[in-house]
Formats: sequence, C-alpha cells, structure tokens
Amino acid sequence: MITRDDIISWLQCYRQVVGENKDYLTQLDAAIGDADHGANMDRGFAAVLEKMPTVAAKDIGAILKMTGMTLVATVGGAGGPLYGTFFMRAGATVDGKMELSPLEFLAALEAGLAGVQQRGKATTGEKTMVDALTPACQALRRALEAGQPLSAALQQAAQAAEEGMKATIPMLATKGRASYLGERSIGHQDPGATSSYLLFRCAADCFANKNKE
Ligand SMILES: Nc1ncnc2c1ncn2[C@@H]1O[C@H](COP(=O)(O)OP(=O)(O)O)[C@@H](O)[C@H]1O
Ligand SMILES: [Mg+2]
Repeated sequence: MITRDDIISWLQCYRQVVGENKDYLTQLDAAIGDADHGANMDRGFAAVLEKMPTVAAKDIGAILKMTGMTLVATVGGAGGPLYGTFFMRAGATVDGKMELSPLEFLAALEAGLAGVQQRGKATTGEKTMVDALTPACQALRRALEAGQPLSAALQQAAQAAEEGMKATIPMLATKGRASYLGERSIGHQDPGATSSYLLFRCAADCFANKNKE
C-alpha cells in the first residue's frame, strides 16, 4: 500500500527535483514560451512544501487537494492552473484515504490527467504535458493489470513519460503559448511535458521499494 508518508515523500522529492531543474525548465520555456516554467514550478512547489504542516494529520485526498489549491493560488499562467487541476482532481478521487492500493493511486493520476485535458482542451500530439502524462498513465495501467509490482510498474510509467516528453520535440504546438510560434515550435522539447516526466520519475524513485500487490 502507498501511505500518506509515501505521498509526502513523493511531493518532497518533486519539490527538490523541480528546484534542481529550474534553469533547465526555464531554458526549454525560453525557446517556445516565455521563460517562466522553471520559476513557476519552483515557486509553486516551494509553497506546497511550506503548507505541508497544515495537512500533517490529514488523509491523502486532503494532501493532494492542498497541493492543487496551493499551485493554483501561487502560480499564474497556464502551467499553474493545469498542475493545480491535476492534483485537485487526483485528491478528490482518494478523499478520506490514509493509504492507497497501486490501482487507487493509478485512478487518482488518471483523474488528474482527465482534469488537465478538460481544462486545457489538449489531446495527445499537441506538444503539451498531456503528451507525457498520457503514456505514463497508460503504461502504469498496463503494468499493474499484468500483475507487476508497483515499483516495476512505476519504472515503466516513468520511461513512457520520458519517451512521451522526447516525442514532443518534432511536434507542432497547437495549444498554449507555444502555439503562437506555429512552425517555429517544431524542434523543441515541451517544458510542461518535461516537468510531468519528472513527476513520474520521482514517483518511480520514491516508491522503488514498494513491492506489494
Ligand atoms: N491547453 C493546454 N493543455 C495542456 N497543457 C498545456 C496547455 N497550455 C500550456 N500547457 C502546458 O503548460 C506548459 C507551460 O507552462 P508555464 O510556462 O508554466 O505557463 P505559461 O505558458 O502560461 O507561461 C507548456 O509547456 C505545456 O506543457
Ligand atoms: Mg511559460
């Protein structure tokens, strides 16, 4: 089972990794956006970690909803509200739960992705975070349904997210700020797909020792 402490470790890991990749994410956004994705994610997750004590005794749903609401409140632009929606939807799916089975965790991630797609109106192939999140959720579902342990399933999800991230390079952006560039968006990796890959990379690293179910 995935405990609330595991979820907090995942968010702490992500906060650190976002900090380490702040300049990288900003450089990617400088090429096809407005050079703020690294700063946005760094500010947002720093605020999330600051607020963590307010959910110290609360369930996983509350932790994820706090994460989403904090991102919406502290990060402007497209990325903040989209990541905010991702975590708020994920949290609503696991309301009141102090631990999650791997399939419940997957259901939360899938609900988060559905929220992002609803809010951003993007589907795969449009050079956005959806292009990393979708294959990651699909790979996680495939692996869990095939009976693989969570740790192995998350490794495959992270790999699928990485492939999805790289696949955004030749894509033409048709959503978000990058779409203003038209053909000039081709040849650059999407910053949001990159931060989404890092989220799954953190889950794989963080839950590496979880072999139950
Ligand atoms: N409509 C959308 N649907 C899904 N993701 C989107 C959409 N618009 C933008 N994004 C994602 O947001 C990322 C940019 O985030 P960020 O730089 O924080 O916001 P902004 O574009 O407002 O500066 C993009 O790389 C892309 O992955
Ligand atoms: Mg930007």
